[in-house]
Amino acid sequence: MVALASNPQGLTATAPLLLRGECVEAMRGLPDGCVDAVVTDPPYRYLDHRLDRAWDRGAWVEQVVRILRRGGLVATFGRGDSFYELNTRLHRAGLRFREEVIWDKVNTTSPIPPISRRHESISIYAKGEGRPQRVHIPWRERIATDPALFEGDIRRVSGALKDTHAHADIEWYLRHWEEGYESAYSMPGVEQRLLEEPPLDRERSAVGRGGRRLPQHIKHLEMLLRGQREGSIIRISSRDIYPGDGRRQHPTQKPVRLLERLIALCCPEGGTVCDPFMGSGSTGVAAVGHGHPFIGVEIDPAYYRDAERRIRGHLARMEERLF
Ligand SMILES: C[S@@+](CC[C@H](N)C(=O)[O-])C[C@H]1O[C@@H](n2cnc3c(N)ncnc32)[C@H](O)[C@@H]1O
Repeated sequence: MVALASNPQGLTATAPLLLRGECVEAMRGLPDGCVDAVVTDPPYRYLDHRLDRAWDRGAWVEQVVRILRRGGLVATFGRGDSFYELNTRLHRAGLRFREEVIWDKVNTTSPIPPISRRHESISIYAKGEGRPQRVHIPWRERIATDPALFEGDIRRVSGALKDTHAHADIEWYLRHWEEGYESAYSMPGVEQRLLEEPPLDRERSAVGRGGRRLPQHIKHLEMLLRGQREGSIIRISSRDIYPGDGRRQHPTQKPVRLLERLIALCCPEGGTVCDPFMGSGSTGVAAVGHGHPFIGVEIDPAYYRDAERRIRGHLARMEERLF
């Protein structure tokens, strides 16, 4: 049994609650509704390895639902039968399916299977009305993982600059873009332009607030400046997979940047994140790095030590950068 040393209600982003032990037991010691998001990578039950041990999935789902606040989200990695079975349990426990996200690893991890597997699946379920957050991925990050998009994006905006009408839009937009996306709808002529379109085109193109339409070049510029809405297929730049010396601490370690993007989707600013299968602590590093209080559990003493060292080390480096 894990002894809970501190009250999770008093958690802060700089004082995470890290527990060594069995996660169902550990969660039993947490209060109802104390976390905003559970982001976790459970044992897949496909590996012949000490970390791939059996766990009580029914009791686990029960505890996850109990510790999530109303509207909270749970994101779980998985594969095959064990993944589908766990998702069915989440559904039967009353959670609502919100999305499935794919981590596209770009390269296959094993040359042996007939179908070269190069992805991991992540499901997102909500307690009650919760929904993933609207998140923008910086344009530079997006093109780093898909350079083919670079040329098209630049060509569209630079092409528009040759048109004096578009030139005026772009100038106006650059002066106002920090006021937010909504400000673009008050751009001179946006409403007028839609009214001038033939009725059939107007019907087809009636997108945007209140039927108003943003010019295409402004939508592209918006994307270059503010980034693109997160998609259901996530690629992480090879530079960010295992930064530093490129070595892993854990055989199934996930990239911190991937977890940052999942947390951004699943947890509001400052909300508490829990990872009951924290392994080497990648979710914890991502959570505390973005100001989220974090609760993590790991059963294996060696991985627990790695997780603690990584999370506390990350906090210490953040503090050094502050002073
Ligand atoms: C797939 S790994 C997680 C790896 C992690 N995402 C990372 O980036 O390092 C799952 C972890 O759960 C741990 N584990 C397995 N059963 C557990 C249980 N019942 N309670 C707590 N931890 C458990 C394993 O030791 C393993 O480290």
